Amino acid sequence: MMAFDQAQFEEILKEFTIDAERLREIAANFRQDLKLGLENVDACSLRMLKSYVGLPTGKEKGEYLALDFGGTNVRVLRIRLEGAGKYEVVKKVGKPLIVEGEYDYVGAGSTADQMFGFLADLIDEAVDGDHETPYLLGHTFSFPSEQTDLYNAKLIIWTKEFATAGVEGKVVNDLLKEALARKGITNVTPTAVINDTVAVLLSAGYQTGDTYIGSIYATGHNTCYLEPYADSGEEPMILNMESGGFNKLAPNRFDQEFDKRSEKPGEQRLEKMVSGRYMGELFGMALAELLGEKGKEYGFTAIDMSDIILDGSEAGDKIAEMVKAKTGKELDAKACAQVKELASALVKRSARLVTATFVGTLWQQAGKGKLKKQHIAVDGSVYEKMPLAKDNIHLALSELLGEEAAQVDTILDNGGSGLGAAIAAAMSQK
Ligand code: GLC
Repeated sequence: MMAFDQAQFEEILKEFTIDAERLREIAANFRQDLKLGLENVDACSLRMLKSYVGLPTGKEKGEYLALDFGGTNVRVLRIRLEGAGKYEVVKKVGKPLIVEGEYDYVGAGSTADQMFGFLADLIDEAVDGDHETPYLLGHTFSFPSEQTDLYNAKLIIWTKEFATAGVEGKVVNDLLKEALARKGITNVTPTAVINDTVAVLLSAGYQTGDTYIGSIYATGHNTCYLEPYADSGEEPMILNMESGGFNKLAPNRFDQEFDKRSEKPGEQRLEKMVSGRYMGELFGMALAELLGEKGKEYGFTAIDMSDIILDGSEAGDKIAEMVKAKTGKELDAKACAQVKELASALVKRSARLVTATFVGTLWQQAGKGKLKKQHIAVDGSVYEKMPLAKDNIHLALSELLGEEAAQVDTILDNGGSGLGAAIAAAMSQK
């Protein structure tokens, strides 16, 4: 039975802790970056990408196809918008982009043609092979894309460890259109591309209203908001900040080391500290030090962390079992409790950092005035399912906003990525 070195454990825990003062500084840095970015995007770590769409009215109607692409699973939905904030999912199909030993459309060995061919096949399934009825398709493409209008979105750079060749720098809807044409599916017309954060905001705008910030807290992490362009006379437009790239943070040595060995070193620094794709690996790095095996990789995932945190047994039975299976080490009850503390600290840090970016955005939105009463729409597995995530967002909101925190709540916008794409397709017809 193994125990941890107490001093080392405390040291590591401290490295994953962000106190109130530091958190406030990070929120202020975020606001500053946002403000800079509105004037000169090269001067900040956000991308501030134009979406060419504002908020929906809630009256949008009609049946559309929605392609939801951006994580490990791709989905295609046929959605009927009924107006008045109501909708119905008529059909839904989905497939993973990687099945181990069978296929892999996201690795460096895969090509754009293969990836988009796979998407076209899934679209074919969603229309039941019907090549007659015309459909407009909204495409939620959850990667940083440079847009010139609602249709034209060029992938700037892959994130979330995607590495498919021949997509960076391309207009993604052209790739999709070509793939559809190759399969004879000419009745489906891609008409709008949006980021998943934008989709979530559109979906919340359609169903709930009073929402100006949309965020994804899942495999990846990113936030968009409605920029009022108050003084310029321009129409309000949703800007995709690509806040996962925010870098005025306090990375610890694990973050630094992890960034170096990632697919894109230097990029997506916030995302690598907070999102589901990375949290398990950071946790594993810290655990390896505690186990005296610095540098060893065990393959922990965010789901493992969730299981660890949820283990309510006195002796930490499930934790012991999991650690044994992944690392070969047998931990005593105290060490199991410490493993749980470590996982909790990582989740807490993640939620606090995400909240700091929300608050930075709210501060910018309020200017010198008061906060507007509103919801922040969030979708994603970490927000929805990771224990401690929501609670720590709420705590950090209060910590940073004080009494004004009563003006703001976060709402789960489950499935917003799909619905938002259908709404964007409807809005493209204006
Ligand atoms: C990554 C992508 C971003 C997306 C987020 C959530 O950060 O770069 O575009 O919104 O993941 O899926």
